[in-house]
Parts: sequence; C-alpha cells; structure tokens
Amino acid sequence: MAFSFNFDIPLKTEETTDKETIDGEAKDVVTKCSEASTTVPKKLKDAIEHKPLLDPLSHLENWVPETITIGALPPLLCLNESVFEKTASEREDSEEILAKTRTENSDLITGVYEGGLKIWECTYDLLEYIDDEGETFSGKSVLDLGCGAGILGILALKRGARKVDFQDYNSTVIEQLTIPNVFLNCEDGSDDEETGEKNGSPPTKKKALNASQTSPLDCCGFFSGDWNSFLTLLQKKKPSPKYDIIFTSETIYNTDYYSSLHSVFCDLLAENGIVYLATKSHYFGVGGGLNLFEKFVEQNNVFQMKHLKDVEQGLKRHIVSLTFKK
Ligand SMILES: C[S@@+](CC[C@H](N)C(=O)[O-])C[C@H]1O[C@@H](n2cnc3c(N)ncnc32)[C@H](O)[C@@H]1O
Repeated sequence: MAFSFNFDIPLKTEETTDKETIDGEAKDVVTKCSEASTTVPKKLKDAIEHKPLLDPLSHLENWVPETITIGALPPLLCLNESVFEKTASEREDSEEILAKTRTENSDLITGVYEGGLKIWECTYDLLEYIDDEGETFSGKSVLDLGCGAGILGILALKRGARKVDFQDYNSTVIEQLTIPNVFLNCEDGSDDEETGEKNGSPPTKKKALNASQTSPLDCCGFFSGDWNSFLTLLQKKKPSPKYDIIFTSETIYNTDYYSSLHSVFCDLLAENGIVYLATKSHYFGVGGGLNLFEKFVEQNNVFQMKHLKDVEQGLKRHIVSLTFKK
C-alpha cells in the first residue's frame, strides 16, 4: 500500500485551505474550524464494541509478523501490512476498505477508511519518546485512540497497564489487525516471548490460549466507529471509564473531527490523566495539523498543551501532551 494521503480529498472549506499555512492568520482559521467541526459532512460509522475470537489468527493463512524493536522497549509484534494486500480477496470486509484502498490507491478515504491498516511514522516517534522517558504504565488505565495496528496500547499492556482499550474508526481494522496484533503479543500469556524467528527461519505460529486460561486480552476492550458515537457508547457503560493515559497518533489531520476528538479527551480523561498526541506539523492535502489543533485547544480553554519533543528531519513531527487546566 502506498504511503500517501489522498490528495484528491475535497477540502472542507475554502477558508481553511487559504489560511491554514499562514501562522499569523491562524485565529481566523480556528473560528472557521470550530464552526466546521459541528457539521460533519456525511454519516459516520456508529460505534460498536468487538468481542475477540478465542484465536483471531487461526483463520489467517501465511500471516507474517514483523517485530518492532526500539531501544529498551519490549519487542512488539505486528502483522505485516503486505498480508492485507495478498489476502484481500479472501477476507471478510463488509466495509470494503481493503478493496477501496487498492482501487483508489489511497491511505485515507474520509468517512470511509481513516488510515488504520498501516503504522504511521509518528507512532514510532511516540515509542521512542516513551523509551527515553521510561514510562512503565503499571496499574494504569490506557486508551489507544485511533489505534490502527494498536502498537501503543500493546506496549502499555506489555508494560503492566491494568486496562487498555483500543479504538479505531474501521471495524475491519479492529477485527483483522488490532485484535490479531494484541493476540500475537500476548499468546500463552507470556509477554516477552520471542517470535521464533531464529537462524533466518520464518517465525512459527504459537499456541493459542485455551478457554480456561486468563489472558491479557481480558483487560482489553476493542471499539470501532466515529469518536462522537464511541463517546456515547462509553458513557452508557456503568461505570463510564476514565483513562490515566490517552494515546493518539496521527489523528489531527482533519479539522472537521477536532470537536469530537476534543470531547473524547474532555469526557474520558481522568482528572490527573495525560493525553499523548503524536502528529505531523501539517497534513498537506487534508488540511489539519498541530498549529490548527493547538489553536482549537486554546480556544476551548480546557487543556494545557505542552510540547514534549520536536522531530525536525523531513516533514516536521511533534509529541505534545494535554492535561486539564487546574
Ligand atoms: C492516520 S491513522 C493513524 C493510525 C495509528 N494511530 C498510527 O499512528 O499508526 C488515523 C486513525 O484515526 C482514527 N480516526 C480518524 N478520524 C476519526 C474519527 N472521526 N472517528 C474515529 N476515529 C477516527 C482512525 O481510526 C485511524 O486509524
């Protein structure tokens, strides 16, 4: 799958296009963004909670795990995205995103497929940041928001989080990538098991958990659907969850979604919790970026945003945190 945003996506407002790149006029843009964010262009997907199969890898032939190794972090296993290209026709895909991404040759089709089938580069930045800071997640409740492959949540799980929920826009992503990845990293209940990739031989499939074993999967929740509807779904739970940590990587490219994203932060972050947001400076062809989101956050006056790390090579990327203003 090509690494590109769909540059043909119609931009939401002419005003946003004209001014988004001009820092000095950002205030104007923010006003436009917050207006635009209340009018979502088309019906978005309703949220649902997914119950994982006992062995979500069992129906996959020839799956190929990749190992992500960063600093002192535990190795993180992930299905290689090529598995989707090779097996698209055999897979259940009621959303038809596997077919659409191929025919449209795009990593993003607004309101249809929001990019979760591949790992985006800011996720690696955030992993490196976590490695540098030595965060352990012990006993914490974590939400991987817009999770895609779920690598950030999986790390939290492996590092002792009490509860990890995964959310992605697309149910196909949750069922065919996120859940298998979590399973892949937690099989047999042992966290740091190796892949079996030794002496150049291919990795071996490991034994699935049997029904009586307790599994790290038991402390995971999996959700698909758009953020507004996800929030409504979680607020109906008794008690409604609050998260100590919300990870969200490469999720602020579309200004139309800022309002719902901000509401998720407001309503689901614990009082002393922290949002880690990893993002590019600007998403060309789509419209959003850190500057616009920062203005949006300032205007709403609920969170304090702190810049934690800037990556200057290539297209600028950033890690920022959001915490409630006291
Ligand atoms: C570009 S992908 C990034 C995936 C992953 N976080 C990563 O860095 O590899 C953006 C993700 O944000 C989520 N997303 C974007 N807009 C959304 C919306 N309006 N409602 C729910 N999820 C949304 C999608 O689930 C999608 O996977």
